[in-house]
Amino acid sequence: MLEGKKIILGISGSIAAYKAAALTRLFVKAGALVRVIMTPAANDFITPLTMATLSKNPVLTKFVKNEAGQWNNHIELGLWADCMVIAPAGANTISKMANGACDNLLIAAYLSARCPVFIAPSMDLDMYAHPSTQNNLQLLKGFGNSIIDPNSGELASGLNGIGRMAEPEEIFDALASFFDANDRLHNKKVLVTAGPTYEHIDPVRFLGNHSSGKMGFAIAEVFASQGAKVILITGPTHQQVQHSNIKRIDVTTAAEMYEATTAQFAKSHIAIMSAAVADYAPEKVSIGKIKKSGDVLQLKLKKTRDILKELGRVKTKKQILVGFALETDNEEANAVKKLKEKNLDFIVLNSLKNKGVGFGFDTNQIYIIHKNGAKLNYGLKPKHEVAKDIVEEVIKLLHA
Ligand code: CTP
Repeated sequence: MLEGKKIILGISGSIAAYKAAALTRLFVKAGALVRVIMTPAANDFITPLTMATLSKNPVLTKFVKNEAGQWNNHIELGLWADCMVIAPAGANTISKMANGACDNLLIAAYLSARCPVFIAPSMDLDMYAHPSTQNNLQLLKGFGNSIIDPNSGELASGLNGIGRMAEPEEIFDALASFFDANDRLHNKKVLVTAGPTYEHIDPVRFLGNHSSGKMGFAIAEVFASQGAKVILITGPTHQQVQHSNIKRIDVTTAAEMYEATTAQFAKSHIAIMSAAVADYAPEKVSIGKIKKSGDVLQLKLKKTRDILKELGRVKTKKQILVGFALETDNEEANAVKKLKEKNLDFIVLNSLKNKGVGFGFDTNQIYIIHKNGAKLNYGLKPKHEVAKDIVEEVIKLLHA
């Protein structure tokens, strides 16, 4: 459960700060390592001394540790943690988290954290119901954070309604079930490809495609958050890796992606090939820049090697192999053909006929077709939700 887990507990200014003491005791009793960060406003509600005593660690409140100029390294702290929980999270802290307003150590640690983040709101009912707070919470959810909903009841103001921070036991249970879920992929090695490939034409030009890498990065993040060790082999993209369980390998061309991926496959339990790999590359790369000349320029292209097909060829019965198919016509028939030809366990089909699907969108709509013929149809969802659906199907196969 929480034994040995490294938890950052962030406390902001709210009357519910006193509950953070009970929460710390629960974490420490379960064997977790707890580092507490308090916002300046939190000091008005609970003392650092109380939290330091209960967490058995010094409490961090400021960027600067002492007058000698030593600082509290929020980046190290963010990387150290297995998870971060902000309890209580007042309206001001929620707003700063949603907008990246980094004026205290807690927000700096939050922005630096690569681990899952849980937010337990605590405020008066009208503040909680206000569209700006709700909007901020939606934004935070969209960033992949988990909200531990407040309860309804009597509030410090004397009013009755939704806004009471979840009880320490509820917050503890939310984290415990999260880590239980994680253990489902503990010790599993996962290989993911993502993004486009760029095929050089000459020193300044290439053939590429519009893949953003968002889907593959989201899949890598979900696997990592479930405890798997992920190798993410990606073509050129602006996407950033968040989770410390992900090792990123950057490549440019289909040939480089082939080499990197086939080198890693034997060590992997699961491989998800979501990259949009070029099927053809210029037969020869011009050493000098190709100069403008006639009205027509012909490029001769040669077929690249199919990475997924090669993995399907060497795959053992213990390995799970998943491919993608992006189709415009005869979607299902084409996907089933790829599923069989590439020896996959299942294929994820995107149809470009559906709205919100395709390169660059934050959403995707998929169909999953298993090798036994089972078909699953999902609705249009944000890509990190789609990634969760794909990972769930993999987990089902692992336990089948
Ligand atoms: N793929 C790959 N290596 C290639 C081409 C494709 O690993 N050289 C993988 C993709 O990552 C994807 C799957 O194969 O998981 C299907 O890719 P797609 O482009 O849809 O299919 P192709 O087999 O290339 O066929 P076509 O482009 O004709 O549809």
